[in-house]
Amino acid sequence: MPLHFDCNATTAASEPVIEAMLPWLGRPGANPSAAHGAGREAARAMRRGREAVAALIGARSPSSVVFTSCGSESTSLAFHSSTAANPGRSNVISTVEHSATRKCAERAGPVVEVAVDRAGALDQGAALEAIARGPAMVSLILLNNETGVISDLGPIGAACRQHGVLFHVDAVQAPGKIAIDVEQLGCDYLSLSAHKFHGPRGIGALYVREGAPVSPLLAGGPQEDGRRAGTENVPGIVGMGVAAERAAELAASPEAQAEIAGRRDLLERLVLERCPGTVVHGDPARRAANTTNLGFDLDGTGLDAAAMLGLLNAQGIEVSTGSACNATQAAPSPVLLAMGTGEALAASSLRFSLAHRETPDSSTQGEIEVGAAAVSEAYASLTLLATD
Ligand SMILES: Cc1ncc(COP(=O)(O)O)c(C=O)c1O
Repeated sequence: MPLHFDCNATTAASEPVIEAMLPWLGRPGANPSAAHGAGREAARAMRRGREAVAALIGARSPSSVVFTSCGSESTSLAFHSSTAANPGRSNVISTVEHSATRKCAERAGPVVEVAVDRAGALDQGAALEAIARGPAMVSLILLNNETGVISDLGPIGAACRQHGVLFHVDAVQAPGKIAIDVEQLGCDYLSLSAHKFHGPRGIGALYVREGAPVSPLLAGGPQEDGRRAGTENVPGIVGMGVAAERAAELAASPEAQAEIAGRRDLLERLVLERCPGTVVHGDPARRAANTTNLGFDLDGTGLDAAAMLGLLNAQGIEVSTGSACNATQAAPSPVLLAMGTGEALAASSLRFSLAHRETPDSSTQGEIEVGAAAVSEAYASLTLLATD
């Protein structure tokens, strides 16, 4: 059985999610826009899903949730909307954003980038200065997909409000890992994607604060209150709702967080003990409990992370060299480089990301030990090769 240490890339839908979705896949007439009984029932199921997603992020009204197809679409909708309302103005992002945000910002117009420090923490002073200059929108990641570093975005949201600047939060990685509160964040938009928290792939959501501009990406019907055309994905919305309920429970459970942190810390400790020179990327004190990003430094030259990944993969151990979206590119992670990591070390780094207990992707303590042993064996054989 493969060991899944790549759960920030995606997670499998949990049993309760699949059970809730299945009836909706084969139900005749389940178009929520239809006026007949089957249509009404679908609309009610969709409403429950919307309420659960709103509750997950502390949204006051379920109608602030717009269902989309994925996190990338949600972020695209936020940028499309803010650009339509503020043509020609710049957008502020950080140097450690996911490619969805980076590409949307580049397409929208001039981009102002705010740096992070060695620990992955945002330069808050530079962000506040950039906001005071009046961009169209600020778009920042809440929980970094590569390092797990969590950003303190409350002050950014407050400054955006003060200066009349729109604020989008990429919270795609946050559900089940930390509590999300759109009021505390002070954001106008917030992106989510169900497949990151044991919901199905093909469904995401964008939170839109009441009064924030919305300019639909798709031309078509009046679905989602005219904000996203296309017949709704009822099975996906039902599944996302069930996944959202569970993610909210997990984020609020100190036991669940301590349990997953315990396995992550065990993996980290065993690898650090057995692989001399290995470093942990990102602030250990402000990190999601499931993620560790390790740089295998060999006398300053580093090991080839792609070769390490190949050796682990041959043993059924799934890890990643960074964002799944860049996994086919040989270049070192732009996120690690932006944190000031040298090229050799960035190219020698692997991300390990675990899933909560009792999920399809979960791993036991014993499996963590097996994984750590495989990492140290791969490290030893690559070290031999490098010193031959
Ligand atoms: C932080 C972050 N933002 C956005 C996305 C894009 O989400 P999706 O794959 O659902 O489009 C991802 C997915 O990898 C992500 O990790």
